[in-house]
Amino acid sequence: MKTFIAHLHPLLVHLPIGILLVYLLLEYLRRNEKYKLIAPINTILFFIGIGTAVLSIITGLLNADVSTYPEDDIFWHKWTAITTTLLFTLYFIIRNRIFYQPVYVIGFFILLLFSIVATGHLGGVLTHGENYLSFEDDIQPEIQPLQIKNIEEARVYEDLVQYIFNKNCISCHSAQKQKGQLRLDTYQYVLTGGKSGQIIKSGDIGHSEMIRRILLDESDDKHMPPKGKLPLRDFEVQLLKWWVQSGAGNQQHVNEMGKDSITAMAIKQFHQVFSQQSAPIQVERPVLNKFDPAIIKQLQSIGCTVTPLTQQENYYRIVAFNAKDSIYSVMEILQKIAAHVVELKLSFTNANDSSLQNLSKFIHLEKLWLDHTEVGIVGLKNISNLKDLKYLNLFKTNLKETEIASIQFPKELQLISPVPKDTLLMARDSVMVSAIKQ
Ligand code: HEC
Repeated sequence: MKTFIAHLHPLLVHLPIGILLVYLLLEYLRRNEKYKLIAPINTILFFIGIGTAVLSIITGLLNADVSTYPEDDIFWHKWTAITTTLLFTLYFIIRNRIFYQPVYVIGFFILLLFSIVATGHLGGVLTHGENYLSFEDDIQPEIQPLQIKNIEEARVYEDLVQYIFNKNCISCHSAQKQKGQLRLDTYQYVLTGGKSGQIIKSGDIGHSEMIRRILLDESDDKHMPPKGKLPLRDFEVQLLKWWVQSGAGNQQHVNEMGKDSITAMAIKQFHQVFSQQSAPIQVERPVLNKFDPAIIKQLQSIGCTVTPLTQQENYYRIVAFNAKDSIYSVMEILQKIAAHVVELKLSFTNANDSSLQNLSKFIHLEKLWLDHTEVGIVGLKNISNLKDLKYLNLFKTNLKETEIASIQFPKELQLISPVPKDTLLMARDSVMVSAIKQ
């Protein structure tokens, strides 16, 4: 309930802003004899404006409680909002006394206008980020392919860990932007940590905030990178865990550090996926026509995250674990744009066999997560039609091991090993996906 009321804040705030601006305008007009009659109406307008402003403040305070916005960013927004409300009230009380002295009136008007605009702007910055009024896109670092011939000789921090940070984190955590007061662009900054202190406890992944964040459920507000950004791949998560577990140093080379088989595989994958010499096989995807953007809106309105993977070719990644409706109805909508879906994440949902009845329409699907669902053998009967499928996660589904043998999987998709016994992960060997998040 609290969260629900808190989430009304972004909706509510538009009311006092609009109403109080109109109020100011009418107040100005009212000074003219001709418009004298406006006065009583404007008094009503004032009370509605102030009433909605107070409601906005209450919902805003609740929102600050349930959201993850940094305290410092909220500070100014909160206090400008309260000041604005008080200033308007003050004006209302003394307006008839100052009314015929233009200096005061104009002074007050400028003050009120300024404070209302400042409040709105600071609120906008909170929700949309600092550059939301600028035309510049997110600063996306340009990532060079790895230039390492022998991965065993690579430096663990410089070549692996920093590479992952550069690719996935520094667009928000660097000299230009320091979300959560954290920089991840050099080793020193990584050790320094952010707003809530150190993010790494060397040798202890259980008490390292950074590891906790990347392991959180993707739908969690604190997950890093945040919703809408491509999450780290399993092998990248594994490498970061390994680095912290083995002391989070910046001197060691890969071959100087002990590793288990899952880490060894993660290192191999890292090398394969990011090297120039052996780029992963890219599926040539045809350029598709645009579809009605209302479908995306519809999916978002029922709680799906829709991320474009490539702009020109119109391919998307869909994540449904916050879906409010049943996965059956999500799939009903999705099948209209089935060919556009390259990645589909149904983990932890009520997906079952009947929600997958149109699966074979998703002809460009490359990655499919069905883990922690009720999916069984019937749902997978058409899976062999998905020729581009490179990754399939069937961890904790209704499938029995004996049934696996009878399913026709797309060619080249193989059970990955070594993996824990109750895990069913399938992937083309060239794209190998390994460790399960613990
Ligand atoms: C799109 C922007 C964005 C990206 C990309 C991003 N972060 Fe963040 N990060 C934030 C924001 C905003 C906060 C502060 C809000 C919060 O605490 O959740 C934050 C906070 C954090 C914190 C907590 C800092 C503290 O002391 O409270 C950690 C740790 C973190 N990020 C790690 C990462 C890692 C690791 C990556 C890359 C894998 C990453 N972030 C990528 C936006 C981002």
